[in-house]
Amino acid sequence: MSQTDSRNTPTSVNDGFDSIDDPDDVPSNPSTMPTFGDVLSARLGRREVVRGALGTAAALTGSAVFTMGGAPAKAAPSRFNFPELQRGVDETHHVAEGYDADILIRWGDPVEADAGTFDPTKQSGSVQSKLFGYNNDFIGFVPLPFGSKSSKRGLLCINHEYTNRSIMFPSTGNGTAGSLRTAEVEMACHGGSVLEIRRDDNGKWSVVNNSSYARRITAHTPMLLSGPAAGHARLRTSADPAGIRVNGTVNNCAGGITPWGTYLMAEENFHNYFLGSLDGHPESRSYKRYGIPGGRYDWGNFDRRWNINAEPNEPNRFGWIVEVDPMDPAAMPVKRTALGRFKHEGAETIVNGDGRLVVYSGDDQRFDYVYRFISKGRVDMEDRDANRDLLDDGVLSVAKFEADGSVRWMPLVWGRGPLTPDNGFSSQADILIETRRAADLLGATPMDRPEDVQPNPMTNKVYFTLTNNSKRKAAQLDKVNTRAKNIWGQIVEMTPPDGDHAAPVFRWDILVQCGDPKKPETKAIWNNATSDNGWFACPDNCAVDAMGRLWIATDQGSNWAKASGAADGLWALETDGDRRGTGRMFFRVPIGAELCGPCFTPDDETLFLAIQHPATDGATHYKGFEKKSSFEDPATRWPDFKPGMPPRPSVVAITKKGGGKIGG
Ligand code: FEO
Ligand code: CA
Ligand code: CA
Ligand code: CA
Repeated sequence: MSQTDSRNTPTSVNDGFDSIDDPDDVPSNPSTMPTFGDVLSARLGRREVVRGALGTAAALTGSAVFTMGGAPAKAAPSRFNFPELQRGVDETHHVAEGYDADILIRWGDPVEADAGTFDPTKQSGSVQSKLFGYNNDFIGFVPLPFGSKSSKRGLLCINHEYTNRSIMFPSTGNGTAGSLRTAEVEMACHGGSVLEIRRDDNGKWSVVNNSSYARRITAHTPMLLSGPAAGHARLRTSADPAGIRVNGTVNNCAGGITPWGTYLMAEENFHNYFLGSLDGHPESRSYKRYGIPGGRYDWGNFDRRWNINAEPNEPNRFGWIVEVDPMDPAAMPVKRTALGRFKHEGAETIVNGDGRLVVYSGDDQRFDYVYRFISKGRVDMEDRDANRDLLDDGVLSVAKFEADGSVRWMPLVWGRGPLTPDNGFSSQADILIETRRAADLLGATPMDRPEDVQPNPMTNKVYFTLTNNSKRKAAQLDKVNTRAKNIWGQIVEMTPPDGDHAAPVFRWDILVQCGDPKKPETKAIWNNATSDNGWFACPDNCAVDAMGRLWIATDQGSNWAKASGAADGLWALETDGDRRGTGRMFFRVPIGAELCGPCFTPDDETLFLAIQHPATDGATHYKGFEKKSSFEDPATRWPDFKPGMPPRPSVVAITKKGGGKIGG
């Protein structure tokens, strides 16, 4: 993010214009451990001695048809069957031929029964708190009736990650950026939405009006803290002297749906919401590691809890995984501290063979880590209530990637190794509150910005995306895989031994190394069968469909013109056989948007996608527009294209014309 907006702001606050992921360009991990690139390089480097560059890539990926460019090779038939979309960038969305992409809901559409009417020129927090929020990210589908595999009716659980002030509010007049009124609208735009949706006889999806399940969660919604850190002195504030109750959740990026149908919201870049100074601050060391105060929002000028000097412990109450029961709109969401505190990208789950729940989560910042949580108790699929507090007790571990292709999970348990009072950890609560520093001490592997971590229940493989890391230095590189200033990212596959997700050691391998395979300088690694439209850059959210096939959404941020020269989108990606590592483009977003939340219904016949922040990222590179978007003059007015209506983040429902599974 580069733009700063000082209009009417009492303190200097960034205005939230471009992608929120860009501030992660400033790493906050001082660790000197070898980075993931170093480890990967070491692996490649050793093999290079005997195989040479091309052979190395093939050996690493277990396929004979990988390349860093060159003519497509003959490969087995694809697991995907759809006409590939062409890359490009324009003012609207595109889906592969033969599919419909319909807008399901947009920022400002009603969610709760007595919602008011959205007027972009006269917004208020109270009206917005019942309307669909901004920047839809994670999407989860819970079939109705509960416990069924219905693909015709269900609850859609959707995160609202952040806001883009410059295009949400008029630059002058009522609702101008920088006022208390604006801050209140922004707080109401955050959090999540629970919608009841149904597929009508005509095959189209719609939101059920006045559903008893409909719910907005915002930066004000009361929620509980639970697990080992709940009630700890470092979580207490003047409004909550017991340290067990928080108002709201922010920056809910990706997430997950548990086997018992609750909705996990991951709090990601929570540092951005706080203002103040660390001079003499009691949490100075810890907050520095998290980049607090981030100062992107000015809420701290209006509400003391966002000011770290007025409320020194408030930031310790953010950065958690929030569990929401979408079946019960009256149930208070719960921040589950056992899963650790960091910039959680997501929280995808799988039931291990022994019945314990495993939750994978990435910490999305340059040089941060990949985590795994294993519940102590077992999932009870017969009695939903029995799982109510399953996420309060278990072991959180952090990943160390070894050069020999193994990945070791190191438990973050108080009293073990360096996690003792000598290093400032007086209890498990301290470890959870300062998860990053505890992981530093264990020697976890600093990664290239871990985003989504997705287990595949059909194969037990686990995929995670490393979106990019432009701050990788030349000194951290090796002879073979030189990805200094890695602006393209890569996708890693982990294999638990015998499918045991609780095992202490997995194997890891690279699935693809993103970027244009025709440009040798990218050092991209794709299957040769990948077409000119099939490669991508900056993988972010991912999903596995009911057939066990992998789909990858991208977020290039304002760097799209350099990373790929085209808009973000969704790609199908082969993971097995001799087509492993072949991408195929299915969908693309309008200019300035990012693609989030791929989510399939159980029958694979509907794919929900979340289109974030249309018109914002890299509008200066959009030919014919070439300036920053504003409320009055955005690069696109997707999806309404009506004069005066700003671009609106929206959820899209994709179905196949005439019926059938998405992607064949
Ligand atoms: Fe919110 Fe890391 O994307
Ligand atoms: Ca993301
Ligand atoms: Ca996912
Ligand atoms: Ca991202």
